[in-house]
Amino acid sequence: MRVHSYTAEDDRVARAIAEYCLARLSMDVPLDQTLTPQELLAQTGQTVLPEGLGGDEALRLWAEVLGPACLSVDHQRYLSFIPNAPTKAACYFDMLVAASNVYGGSWLEGSGAVHAENQALRWIADLAGMPAEAGGTFVQGGTIGNLSALVAAREAALARRGTRPLRWAVCVTGETHSSVKHALRVVMDADVVEVPGDARGRMTGSALRSTVEALDETVRDGIFAVVATAGSTNLGIVDDIAGIGEVAREHHWWLHVDGAYGGAGLAAESVRGLFAGVELADSFIVDPHKWLFAPFDACALLYREPALGRAAHTQHADYLDPVTVESDWNPSDFAIQLTRRARGLPFWFSLAAYGTDAYRDAVEQTLIVTRATADLIKRSDHLRLLVEPDLSVLVLERIGWTPADYDAWSAKLLADQIAFVTPTKHNGQVCTRFAIVNPRTTVADLEMIIDSMR
Ligand SMILES: Cc1ncc(COP(=O)(O)O)c(C=O)c1O
Repeated sequence: MRVHSYTAEDDRVARAIAEYCLARLSMDVPLDQTLTPQELLAQTGQTVLPEGLGGDEALRLWAEVLGPACLSVDHQRYLSFIPNAPTKAACYFDMLVAASNVYGGSWLEGSGAVHAENQALRWIADLAGMPAEAGGTFVQGGTIGNLSALVAAREAALARRGTRPLRWAVCVTGETHSSVKHALRVVMDADVVEVPGDARGRMTGSALRSTVEALDETVRDGIFAVVATAGSTNLGIVDDIAGIGEVAREHHWWLHVDGAYGGAGLAAESVRGLFAGVELADSFIVDPHKWLFAPFDACALLYREPALGRAAHTQHADYLDPVTVESDWNPSDFAIQLTRRARGLPFWFSLAAYGTDAYRDAVEQTLIVTRATADLIKRSDHLRLLVEPDLSVLVLERIGWTPADYDAWSAKLLADQIAFVTPTKHNGQVCTRFAIVNPRTTVADLEMIIDSMR
């Protein structure tokens, strides 16, 4: 069969791809541009054909058309959403993971990979002060991590109380990530109890307590968890995890800490204190593909009591049960997944190769740049810093600009290949934000962007 032989053509194309990868890893990447479906079709034509294009032509199309039509999220002036800035080691090891095609769902099939992933998870669990028994798995992203944790929380509540309430409910704030609210409303059909945030959108223990005390008893009865955000996406603010955790303990609610973006801050001494109380978490997530320098896609999902994750997520089937032994550490048992690539391996390799001190320093570097830029903004007559940063997100207003001005400025920055910075909203007002997770981003980079707003 042509597709499973390894011919001279395969060898040539494989080497060309390896060359392409090495060049991409060592170059200063361009930002690149989004194209429309029509523009892409005009350049590629139909690529999936009965006779095949041949590897050389398919690779040419990637290198000349498709690749440049994907924004480089690892560009040092890509500051929108939450960027991604993988280490070189994590990227080149990802190539090895692909070539090895490791099955990461069970210990039986992937013990070496799962062992390595678990050591990387242990580093995170230790940073969070979770107990020695804590553990979990790497899932696709924060969305699946949050959903898997909340499903485990609900199953644990059901097992404890024995009956379902009228409606299940979870306490969140306006700044809680959309993936949590989507998981609750759409996937789990559970209600959202919104706790008002403080002036910076932060959930505090006292606001949680007073919100819940004011609820109708039937609503309160259905609460099974509270989600604390350790680094809100838009503002980078960390909730009062200790205060929230105390209220959660009193009510026997599950405390889930969503550190998808900000959890990486645990590695940095200068902000560690903001996370006080994270050690109380029943579940905790952090995305290495956000601020822990791993390529897409990887979310570390940790349970204080992994048995509760397993009770919720182990799939049973005649063909699975004889091989998925409960005493084995099967990553599939801890989340909404069965087949999985060993997606934690690039992160593990990079941690193992560079050491955790390098991670600490890299996270601190982004915080240093954030603070210096916050000072720059405060000194700029044309700008106003809207929220004092906790972590590495800056939200700012260009005084006098309309939403259309932000759009035009943002589009021009990208068209000129200077930066990718998009508008956002804060308290209903259009503004912009810089999310700084790339240690290669410099204060000079940010100065250039600030100057472009004059
Ligand atoms: C706080 C927070 N939680 C969850 C998510 C969702 O993560 P993902 O996009 O990896 O699914 C994000 C994404 O930005 C986030 O910032």
